[in-house]
Amino acid sequence: MNKTYYVTTPIYYPSAKAHIGHTYCTVNTDALARYKRLKGFDVFFLTGTDEHGQKIERKAAEAGVSPQEYVDKITAEFKKLWKLMDISNDGFIRTTDKQHMECVQKVFDRLCEQGDIYKSEYEGNYCTQCEAFWTDTQLKDAGGACPDCGRPTELAKEEAYFLRVSKYAPRLIQHIRDNPDFIQPVSRANEMLNNFLLPGAEDLCVTRSTFKWGVPVSFDSRHVIYVWIDAVLNYLSALGYLSDDDSLYRRFWPADVHIVGKEIVRFHTIIWPVVLMALDLPLPRKVYGHGWLMLDGDKMSKSKGNVVDPFVLVERYGVDAVRYFLLSEFPFGQDGNFDNRTLITRINSDLANDLGNLLSRTVAMIDRYFGGVVPCPVCPVAEEDEALKDSARALSARIDGAMDAIHPNVALQEIFRTVGLCNKYIDITAPWVLAKDESKRERLGTVLYNLAECLRIIGVALQPFLTNTPKRMFEQLGVTDAQLMRFDSIEPDCFGSLPEGTVVCKGDALFPRIDAEAELAYLDDMLERQRAEAQTANAEAPTQAEELEKEEKPLITYDDFAKLDLRLARVVECTEVKKSKHLLNLTLDVRGEKRTVLSGIRDWMKPEELVGKNVVLVYNLAPRKMCGIESQGMILCASDEGDVHLSPLTTMTEMESGAGIR
Ligand code: MSP
Repeated sequence: MNKTYYVTTPIYYPSAKAHIGHTYCTVNTDALARYKRLKGFDVFFLTGTDEHGQKIERKAAEAGVSPQEYVDKITAEFKKLWKLMDISNDGFIRTTDKQHMECVQKVFDRLCEQGDIYKSEYEGNYCTQCEAFWTDTQLKDAGGACPDCGRPTELAKEEAYFLRVSKYAPRLIQHIRDNPDFIQPVSRANEMLNNFLLPGAEDLCVTRSTFKWGVPVSFDSRHVIYVWIDAVLNYLSALGYLSDDDSLYRRFWPADVHIVGKEIVRFHTIIWPVVLMALDLPLPRKVYGHGWLMLDGDKMSKSKGNVVDPFVLVERYGVDAVRYFLLSEFPFGQDGNFDNRTLITRINSDLANDLGNLLSRTVAMIDRYFGGVVPCPVCPVAEEDEALKDSARALSARIDGAMDAIHPNVALQEIFRTVGLCNKYIDITAPWVLAKDESKRERLGTVLYNLAECLRIIGVALQPFLTNTPKRMFEQLGVTDAQLMRFDSIEPDCFGSLPEGTVVCKGDALFPRIDAEAELAYLDDMLERQRAEAQTANAEAPTQAEELEKEEKPLITYDDFAKLDLRLARVVECTEVKKSKHLLNLTLDVRGEKRTVLSGIRDWMKPEELVGKNVVLVYNLAPRKMCGIESQGMILCASDEGDVHLSPLTTMTEMESGAGIR
């Protein structure tokens, strides 16, 4: 029997369309699942949607449809996206599935029967956005607002059921200490211990009676089960736990790793283990909290209009280019900044140039000098051959190391190091020079053989990450034997497995070069439009949460404020940005220094009204490209509700440009 491997993503809220952040998590988990399958594991890869809760109930009401209709539509979009991204999930769980809901009820019943869930009354600080109650200490530490989202909480009181977290906390603390691998990266383990467990974990309220859209408590239908208890149980219910057929559960539990975003590590390493301990089940082996993808240093959110749409990117650059970027650009455990320019540069340089050209040059040279037949490596080994072969031989172990640590970006770096060495090898050996000298024919054959074999190895190694490219590489290299596509065919002693006499087949470029400037203008403009649309939508129909977000922000300290470098700046020139309906391009003078700043105020201000005026500039805001122009800061404006009126800020008396604002 093969060793099993059970890996999961979070189940996503179908409250808004999937964006690049969800795609980032799912693609990285997919690479892990594919890698384990290639290593011979019996893998179960689960993803799905978390469909209950007040937020969804509210969104559906706003949209004028039933919650079920609402989630059906968005869940279908998630499924479509995973198909498009070539996600190889074995299961897709929806928390509205009958099997799941029954499982949740049975677990709840059982924990009540054994006294691990009890009835009492709850009064506390509730964040409707995050569906979470927070203790006074947690609120105080977070400056009085929800520690997760920063929004204000509201006092809520209700009769409710409680989970005895306090009973299991000492065992959980011990477990975390005894198993340093349980919570990864390790900094997150310390955070859980220091912020949540060691200060004393309180029992958790696990039912709600203020809304209906959830799994009802089987014996007390006034209550629905807390969405996080409902949600975490997906990892068991999807395997058929407590159902008529629990064969998957018996085969795959405990999970090898739950991949989750850093903001929900808490739910997976405290609530979930407590439920499992109460059920007397083994805990997952690992919970990995990955970082967030930000846009211009800001968390993506639909209401800000700063979400990147994966459908658009795939349509323009293809699945493998997008997968490559998501897998290679960001260290998985840390936050990363999504940036269109980096996306396009990486596609052009790594995929089109380094990998694509390497393949087409190698195949073209085998075609030209050896009639398309891979030659025999007969020549004595040269120093440069050894360096190249060493790198190819070391690849499989290096990928193993990186993937075991859940660092897909490091695995890809290793693969592309070999790609780089192949390109260097072509430069050093200069096959076109060898080809001119008949006495160097054997050397030429050896060089081209080594390149073709390295490309096969690279193709094999890329299989967990890219889903079309390896096949296309094998086609062009003439590799048809499935044995030569297996991961064990790139073990160190397998170098040389590509048979001489293999017939290569010239094909299209793997990745066409992208016209970077044109694409950037397109993508930046799209983002700008999205932002403007979101602004309008927020003004037209602000949701309760968005209202709160607008009006009440958490308290900040003077140090927070002092981070802003605000200066007075004189507008010396102002024009409309051609590619945008909303933007003005301002040239500002800040005590002799010129700054270009784009501002979305064209609906309210004419360029000539601004020239000669002083405005307030956020001088140390990170620059951002829009419509192909870099905006070096932002000017401050006052606007009323719905942005009916808007005016840039200025001083009451005439002042020199460059004056500081404190
Ligand atoms: N439904 C809960 C999870 C329950 S799991 C038992 C939830 N859903 S969510 O839709 O908000 O998705 C959260 C997950 O999506 C994050 O934990 C993360 O994996 C992924 N991401 C969402 N936005 C992201 C970024 N901007 N960047 C990276 N990942 C992001 O929480």
